[in-house]
Amino acid sequence: MEAQATYNYKVVRQFAVMTVIWGIVGMLVGVIVAAMLVWPDLNPGLPWLTYGRLRPLHTNAVIFAFGGCGLFATSYYCVQRTCQVRLFCDKLAAFTFWGWQLVILLAAITLPLGFTTGKEYAELEWPIDILITIVWVSYAIVFFGTIIKRKVKHIYVANWFFGGFILTVALLHLVNSAELPVSMWKSYSFYSGAQDAMVQWWYGHNAVGFFLTAGFLGIMYYFVPKQAGRPVYSYRLSVVHFWALIFTYMWAGPHHLHYTALPDWTQSLGMVFSLILLAPSWGGMINGIMTLSGAWHKLRDDPILKFLVVSLSFYGMSTFEGPMMSIKTVNALSHYTEWTVGHVHSGALGWVGFITIGAIYYLIPRLFGRDEMYSKKLVETHFWVATIGIVLYIASMWIAGVMEGLMWRAFNSDGTLTYTFVEALKQKYPYYVMRVLGGALYLSGMFLMIYNVFKTISAGKAVDATIPAANASHHA
Ligand code: HEM
Ligand code: HEM
Repeated sequence: MEAQATYNYKVVRQFAVMTVIWGIVGMLVGVIVAAMLVWPDLNPGLPWLTYGRLRPLHTNAVIFAFGGCGLFATSYYCVQRTCQVRLFCDKLAAFTFWGWQLVILLAAITLPLGFTTGKEYAELEWPIDILITIVWVSYAIVFFGTIIKRKVKHIYVANWFFGGFILTVALLHLVNSAELPVSMWKSYSFYSGAQDAMVQWWYGHNAVGFFLTAGFLGIMYYFVPKQAGRPVYSYRLSVVHFWALIFTYMWAGPHHLHYTALPDWTQSLGMVFSLILLAPSWGGMINGIMTLSGAWHKLRDDPILKFLVVSLSFYGMSTFEGPMMSIKTVNALSHYTEWTVGHVHSGALGWVGFITIGAIYYLIPRLFGRDEMYSKKLVETHFWVATIGIVLYIASMWIAGVMEGLMWRAFNSDGTLTYTFVEALKQKYPYYVMRVLGGALYLSGMFLMIYNVFKTISAGKAVDATIPAANASHHA
């Protein structure tokens, strides 16, 4: 047999382990910033530990380090298994791992130092942007190179979602990061005024749609059927889902800019496309959940499946809530309030977090030659602790958000405001405490996870599965 008889699991292992580690780092910073809103004096007076610098550190760490490593790990695993070939170019794959870790490290240094473009989710300065571009192009070459040399004729739908995510993120990054450097760590956006805002939120919303959704739908289409031991409920629906989702997401960005200087018609267009987006989102969610038809009983004693399926219910919830919040009259209440933060975290903790955690629990034993995780009970405990954490987080933010929105708009009969800003802020205090508690529970689940992962790895050893012969069954 030729040299390439095995899959490249090494890079998958590296990304999988870093997913857990960066998850802990990012969520720890999340808990710290949440605590700072309750106890502002937590900062010992150091400029690099101020709320304004730690907050982007949190968002970058959870989205690009935790989420990003999870996407690299799962896409590399899925594309090899479903194409039945080793990853294209081991060296380039290794480069994507080390390059991505370098990006994360540079972010972790420059953000606390205060270097930022000021564009949300695209804060990193131009030298890091260039490195991101190089790593991302390498990722695309490895991923699509693997698809090109595949031994299975059909390209499984999960790969369509991963591929769509890779291409779109490249496009978003290139367009939104167009900037004019004035020094090593300072640049100005290529766009100005309302155009800059429009480009930024075209980017921002599609970062949600592609970084935080399409890639994770790739995870859903591979890992849910695998863990449930059932084929995808409707393959036809999955293809319709793909095209409808990528077409619709592109137009929804202006819902982040309601009642701003953006032309009114663009705001309405964004709202209409956001409402339409409900359909493909729910189509996909139903497709994932119905994959369990005939396997529902497995949910009872399979905590990994619990993570995967509950993540889909949070996906359904946040993609119902999002379109509602995009309606201009609803947004007039929700915008600037904690409601948005609640919506974000029902997607982030429930959907993105849970599907990633489920997929990593699926992967770890397979990558390290074990039948299952060291302790199934700990996975189960992780699931419940994290679920309670999410409920506390999002319920407290919903209540705080709607409450402050209503307080801001309350008028007295003489036309003056009923409440000052500070009064509304004070009312949020107990809910901020509740959020810290919810976040701490979610984080403690991650500690259970890393212990369980560590024990599983130390009982096993790195194993690269062999690639089946060309004419074997094509079910990977
Ligand atoms: C232990 C878990 C977490 C805690 C305690 C936490 C806490 C926080 C806090 C306090 C903020 C700032 C809110 C504000 O400025 O008012 C925030 C923002 C944010 N977090 Fe988290 N977070 C957690 C996990 C995550 C995860 C896993 C993700 C993504 C996968 C995420 C994504 C975000 C995003 C996108 C924002 C910005 C929201 C916005 O601008 O509206 N968080 N988080
Ligand atoms: C059909 C799907 C969705 C629609 C139409 C939608 C719509 C919205 C709307 C209207 C806002 C509030 C904008 C504002 O008032 O500033 C928002 C904010 C946000 N949503 Fe969604 N959402 C959807 C799904 C999701 C999902 C699944 C996630 C996470 C995984 C997510 C993450 C976010 C984030 C991070 C923000 C805050 C952006 C910021 O201001 O920093 N959304 N979304």
